[in-house]
Amino acid sequence: MNIAIIGTGYVGLVTGSCFAEVGHNVICVDCDEAKVKMLQGGGIPIFEPGLEEMVKKNVAEGRLNFTASTAEGVEQSDVIFIAVPTPPLEDGSVDLSFIERVARDIANAMTSYKVVVDKSTVPVKTGEKVAETIKRYCKTDCEFDVISNPEFLREGFAVEDLMNPDRIVVGITSNKPEAAMREIYEPFNAPIIFTDINSAELIKHAANSFLAMKISYINAVAAICEASGANVEEVAHGIGMDERIGRRFLNASLGFGGSCFPKDLSAFIRISDDLGYDFGLLKEVQKINAAQMDRFLKKITDTLWILKDKTIGVLGLAFKQNTDDVRMSPAIEVCQRLLKDGASLRVHDPKAMEKARELLPAEGVTYVDDMDRVAEGCDALVVATEWPEFKELDLAKARDAMTAPLLFDGRNLFDPAEMAQLGFTYKCIGR
Ligand code: UDX
Repeated sequence: MNIAIIGTGYVGLVTGSCFAEVGHNVICVDCDEAKVKMLQGGGIPIFEPGLEEMVKKNVAEGRLNFTASTAEGVEQSDVIFIAVPTPPLEDGSVDLSFIERVARDIANAMTSYKVVVDKSTVPVKTGEKVAETIKRYCKTDCEFDVISNPEFLREGFAVEDLMNPDRIVVGITSNKPEAAMREIYEPFNAPIIFTDINSAELIKHAANSFLAMKISYINAVAAICEASGANVEEVAHGIGMDERIGRRFLNASLGFGGSCFPKDLSAFIRISDDLGYDFGLLKEVQKINAAQMDRFLKKITDTLWILKDKTIGVLGLAFKQNTDDVRMSPAIEVCQRLLKDGASLRVHDPKAMEKARELLPAEGVTYVDDMDRVAEGCDALVVATEWPEFKELDLAKARDAMTAPLLFDGRNLFDPAEMAQLGFTYKCIGR
């Protein structure tokens, strides 16, 4: 198939590369010319395991191209995927102006039948608006279909998730685009569910909100575990073995973050409000998430008492492992709040230090390249991201380098018994 992908962010770039990898001809469009030049030259603007190799290979083999011209992308393809950002607005709704702009650009460039696929996460009924916009701005009389194909990839596992999806959801209004979508996804060997467009759009918000709810649920259970002396990991294991519940997304933490869950939850609450339903359950999910961060920080202040003039080592800045993404990162919030209380920080992240510099103040933060040197002179260490390499930390060296051996583990990476044996005062989540 000849495919255009508009937007080369996490979703667009990974989708385009994976489509090229299975043999389709893909042209990726981005309005940021500098980014297009970088991609054309073999540079990758984000860190995502396996992505760089895949992009380089498919560019070299001629199946993956980049352009800053939407017209060029539209002209060269039969199916056009929209994968532009839908960032949050102050009131919890989403900014759909990028989608609307792209719809107009597609309309202006269309000279033959096209399938326009919305892959960005959008409120229910956006597909209808996109179709109306294309119709209004299209100068020719050519036919088109607007369909919905939400993306479920996780950052940090994007290539793996895209190549091996649990399911593919396609929302359509007519049968005409069905064959093209089947052909595009045939190499991925996954079940394809065809629904109406509104349902496909809702599936995405309902799925992300459900997963966020699972995390808040286990975080609330973690609070009960702490109050009662139970162990949240045992509880998660015990309930997760029930196939109706499942163990995944039951890792207690300092709260969820990232560019999707917080935004999609707010959006879904707002969409429901607009449709006349007060989704109180999801409001509670947000409240528990905020309280989880407060509870974690309180453990630090309760122990250290005064943070002014204290040095705290923070391991992890990304919103989760395997990514350099720091948007809405709980780790960044930890840093900001510790700094606000007067602490100085020594921070380390395997991939996200550069992006973190844009969010953290220049004063009071020392970026440490070697994770084994973060603890030097620190009054406490904090684990804020679940990078697996942190498990390899030289704990004895860290202990000896600190003013007092104190570790707050916001990701339950370490074993409490081992930490006690090493002489650490160790505080974690729900254990
Ligand atoms: C999420 C969805 O998983 C994905 O399907 C959708 O396409 C985009 O949104 P992503 O934001 O990349 O993906 O990350 P995810 O792995 O879902 O983690 C989100 C946040 O929840 C992270 O901060 C993570 O650390 C946290 N988390 C996740 C927990 O605290 N506990 C868990 O058990 C799982």
